[in-house]
Amino acid sequence: MSRVIHSRLTLSRYSSTWRGRCLSTESSKIDEPLKLEEAETVHVPPPPSEKLLVLGGSGFVGSHICKEALNRGLSVASLSRSGNSSIQEPWVNKVQWHQGDLLSGSSWKEALNGVTSIVSCVGGFGSNSYMYKINGTANITAIRAAAEKKVKRFVFVSAADCGVINYILQGYYDGKRAAETELFVRYPYGHVILRPGFIYGNRRVGNMELPLGVIGSPLETVLQHAKPLSQVPLVGPLLTPPVNVTAVAKVAVRAATDPVFPPGIVDVHGLLRYSQQK
Ligand SMILES: NC(=O)c1ccc[n+]([C@@H]2O[C@H](COP(=O)([O-])OP(=O)(O)OC[C@H]3O[C@@H](n4cnc5c(N)ncnc54)[C@H](OP(=O)(O)O)[C@@H]3O)[C@@H](O)[C@H]2O)c1
Repeated sequence: MSRVIHSRLTLSRYSSTWRGRCLSTESSKIDEPLKLEEAETVHVPPPPSEKLLVLGGSGFVGSHICKEALNRGLSVASLSRSGNSSIQEPWVNKVQWHQGDLLSGSSWKEALNGVTSIVSCVGGFGSNSYMYKINGTANITAIRAAAEKKVKRFVFVSAADCGVINYILQGYYDGKRAAETELFVRYPYGHVILRPGFIYGNRRVGNMELPLGVIGSPLETVLQHAKPLSQVPLVGPLLTPPVNVTAVAKVAVRAATDPVFPPGIVDVHGLLRYSQQK
């Protein structure tokens, strides 16, 4: 048994992420039982040079991502048209707030200076052409600029397919998928696409807080066990479980900063699974 583990550790020497830890084991003593703590996740605070830019950090999901990233010791900046947050909590003062419109001019690109990873929460609703622009064009512009500035990782908060609703919100979904395609091309190894369904949590609208969890939380509990039903064409996607905004924020920050987080699409069930990991 110990020999098997030993050979796995020897193989894993070739992984740069684990190199330091593997080389510190006394691998010549093959008959001694090796400690399984080698396989455990170690939470090391990110180096101070890590800077996360949240596109749309003033919004519902973006503000939770800013807060989660600060809690994880990152340096955090946000870019949005309003340029600030309506939330009055102490953590807000630790975010570097940039004002700029991804669909207008290029001065917003200054916000990319020194940034190592990006999470984009830019999106919205309106006419089909507006939805395509805000969900698609704005994000495509950001992805291209980030790639030019050599930002290492780009996480995109996209959206799960919604069956028949896709036809009604065509500009929204076409825009999301166009941005995803751009991300595959520009960030083949450094992208993560999150595809949540309905995101619940306390949502601020003006001076009011809407407790969306009153509906979202029980629905999540019921629907996460109905995965086969969600695969029924057209209507199945309507049964996609809602997900808590804090879970989305946790996975987004991890995807943006953990070099071994695999690139690709994370669906709702993946979001729920990753968010339950420590
Ligand atoms: N909430 C959900 O249930 C849900 C479900 C699935 C997917 N999503 C996706 O998750 C993302 C975040 O959703 P959310 O509910 O947090 O939306 P939100 O509250 O409306 O936030 C959108 C953010 O994007 C910024 N923004 C919009 N247009 C911009 C532009 N041209 N340039 C720069 N910033 C811009 C907004 O700030 P300004 O208005 O100040 O610019 C705001 O900070 C969206 O892409 C959405 O499609 C949300």
